[in-house]
Amino acid sequence: MSGKKLRIACIGAGCSGTHHMLWFEQRIPGSVVAFCDLDRRLFDSIVDAYLGQNIGNLAGDFKQEISGLSKDFKNLPYYTDPDEMLDKEDIDTVLICTYCNVHAEMIEKCVRRNMNILTEKPLATTEEDVEKCWELLRNYPKVAVVNFTMKGAPVSLAAKHHVQGGTIGDIISVQYVNNVHYGDEFFRKWMRTSEKSDTLILQKATHDLDIINNIIGLKPVSIAAFGSRLVYGGDMPNDLTCDVCEKKWSCPMSVYRLQLDAAKSLPPEHIRKCVYAKEIDLDDNHVVIIQYEGGVTASYSQTFNAPQRGGQRGGYFIGTEGIMHLKCYNEFSETPQGQMLVGNSSIDITRYHQKSGTRIYEVYDWAGHAHFDGTEYGLEAKLALLEGRPTEIANTIEEGYISAKMCLAAQKSIETSQVVKLGL
Ligand SMILES: NC(=O)c1ccc[n+]([C@@H]2O[C@H](COP(=O)([O-])OP(=O)(O)OC[C@H]3O[C@@H](n4cnc5c(N)ncnc54)[C@H](O)[C@@H]3O)[C@@H](O)[C@H]2O)c1
Repeated sequence: MSGKKLRIACIGAGCSGTHHMLWFEQRIPGSVVAFCDLDRRLFDSIVDAYLGQNIGNLAGDFKQEISGLSKDFKNLPYYTDPDEMLDKEDIDTVLICTYCNVHAEMIEKCVRRNMNILTEKPLATTEEDVEKCWELLRNYPKVAVVNFTMKGAPVSLAAKHHVQGGTIGDIISVQYVNNVHYGDEFFRKWMRTSEKSDTLILQKATHDLDIINNIIGLKPVSIAAFGSRLVYGGDMPNDLTCDVCEKKWSCPMSVYRLQLDAAKSLPPEHIRKCVYAKEIDLDDNHVVIIQYEGGVTASYSQTFNAPQRGGQRGGYFIGTEGIMHLKCYNEFSETPQGQMLVGNSSIDITRYHQKSGTRIYEVYDWAGHAHFDGTEYGLEAKLALLEGRPTEIANTIEEGYISAKMCLAAQKSIETSQVVKLGL
């Protein structure tokens, strides 16, 4: 593809999709040629915010430094029907950033037209769709990647290099957690139903399971899991928002109360739904245990009710010659307006034969960059693939397939109380 200008379109132009488009447009002006969404309001508000230099909380996880964006970007050809866009426009690459339950349908449309595919995680949300996407893409002649944003983070790469380079000997086991300090947000928007997300294992843990796989470089064999919903959901109306609720100032989960008591900045208006709504049917805590090839074991747990300033993500990697402690949130503090003051990750390695004062301790600064500094490096990697250059952050379909299989197997285990063999 080298030498030929990219022609990129996006299906699902919300937070992820619009930021992906903005990044490509900044790197290669004119490369984004069209977008499709059932509703263009999120695209408009995000682009308007960047044009007005006041992105605030609208950027969510994908905040970027965007400069030199032309006002004309708002006038990109816009479609509500993806087939119409893919047929009418001159496109070679498609960003798929819709709700998770339609990724598979959009992947199929792009495969039929032989386009490069940059899809958001997860690959798909049902066993049938995951297998279908795998069959369609396993030998695909064009670029096809699943977006795991943390994989490009310098700390993730360093952790992988340590483990696979032998710093802690041969890997024996992993103990990993994700205590999500912004967990309420998952229950304030579309992600809160099994219809659109399947589970929060597939929505969230999929990243961590992929990171564990990537760091240890082994294939999982079997999975068992437990899960329950103990915090979110209830009897409140599905369309209720904190803005119009009579408990706006008394409910401890009100976005206004969180702003007052925990100095948490108000989320954008479309992320203010009541976390006790009837339609919420997803478990909000999970424990997963994994057996890898060669007898290596791992435990993983995630919760969505960590204190607003108490997020924890990472874990211990135990090897024959030492232990590596990966802390994605090492030091972390932001202003009430959501601006990062300090943000870094750390790797702390203790070796089996080591004197007490000896230590391998590394710190990776990510202040001002999302996903522990993984977002932009991940996008650089996608551009490299599209331009035919090598990259370590390949985000392959196989990686997306394995992570999705693990998440679906974990949910199956929760439902059946059985250990599930992955059969990879
Ligand atoms: N890699 C990451 O770190 C990361 C982070 C957040 C979200 N995501 C993923 O990105 C995807 C989008 O999430 P988001 O946070 O941007 O959500 P969002 O609500 O901000 O945007 C989703 C957009 O997709 C549109 N859409 C939904 N169904 C559609 C359809 N059938 N056709 C056209 N448009 C459709 C919606 O109207 C909306 O504008 C999800 O799959 C999510 O899992 C990934």
